Amino acid sequence: MKKITVIGAGNVGATCANVIAHKDLAREVVMLDIKEGVAEGKALDIWQTSSINHFNTRVIGVTNDYLRTKGSGVVVITSGLPRKPGMSRDDLIKTNAKIVKDVTEKVVKYSPDAIIIIVSNPLDVMTYTAFKASNKPSTKVFGMAGILDTGRYRAFIADALDVSPKDILSLSLGGHGDSMVPLPRYTTVNGIPISELLGKEEIDKIVERTRKGGGELVNLMGTSAWYAPGAAAAQMVEAIVDDQKRIFPCCAWLQGEYGLKDIYMGVPVKLGKNGIEGIFEIELNKDEKKLLIESAKTVKKVITVLDEMKLF
Ligand code: NAI
Ligand code: 2OP
Repeated sequence: MKKITVIGAGNVGATCANVIAHKDLAREVVMLDIKEGVAEGKALDIWQTSSINHFNTRVIGVTNDYLRTKGSGVVVITSGLPRKPGMSRDDLIKTNAKIVKDVTEKVVKYSPDAIIIIVSNPLDVMTYTAFKASNKPSTKVFGMAGILDTGRYRAFIADALDVSPKDILSLSLGGHGDSMVPLPRYTTVNGIPISELLGKEEIDKIVERTRKGGGELVNLMGTSAWYAPGAAAAQMVEAIVDDQKRIFPCCAWLQGEYGLKDIYMGVPVKLGKNGIEGIFEIELNKDEKKLLIESAKTVKKVITVLDEMKLF
């Protein structure tokens, strides 16, 4: 791909650009931020690792110069406030909705054909905001959360079993918040159901730690995580750029799937060069359905706050 843009050169944006460059996914990665010099400095720093780490992707930083993002094939939006201790992701909506709307409009103006991946929180509602602001089909505007959430879940299971995290296959549905729905019934260790290897109590503890996984890191660091979020967004970019047709849990626009309508939430999708190339509707039992509906209610509540802001 010729050009990929990352909006926001903070912790997540810079990490994402760094991983994209290391994977050599494009001729050029443009990082854009409103803070004078920050994107330029971080881009230069990353670019100066190219000879050490052997990649060719040129990393460029700009201060609010959208002209430089022109013609991007994929744009990752990470701009906005992160969580601080005591805040939920939903507390960020008032500030971040305005930022995401403004940024999306500018992105689309210069890169009308771009596939847009949202990272800013509250994720599900910020993805909806970008969808509205972009006037693009929902297959081209979606959000990153499920790869991060299952990344945490898989790491915890790998620790519990002392096995490679690469062998843990799993799924999580729902909103990116404490109401998310990790699915032990769809979790295997290279095909072996997790229930064969761990007791219910231990699985329940891991699910609960996963749900609160973002908060755990906020409490440790005073701000939210970036290594795993940046890598997760870059994995989505890779699936699109290389037309990999990978199946990932992503935040997608639902129009009746899982009995849910007019809502962005995490579900398994196929990612390829056209963006979301399919949504998979898997069989859920009564308890899982209940949890998913609860999660959707939480997301809908935040949509109400967005609606009250009358941005659209
Ligand atoms: P950060 O504070 O390190 O970086 C955010 C950057 O956005 C700052 O450099 C800021 O100057 C920039 N920015 C603000 N307004 C802008 C605008 N209008 N145009 C361009 N840049 C602008 O925050 P961090 O840690 O990188 O997090 C970014 C966002 O991602 C937060 O909302 C955070 O909650 C979210 N997040 C989402 C995750 C997910 O799973 N979806 C995981 C981790 C973070
Ligand atoms: C995370 O899950 C806060 O959404 C961010 O780390």
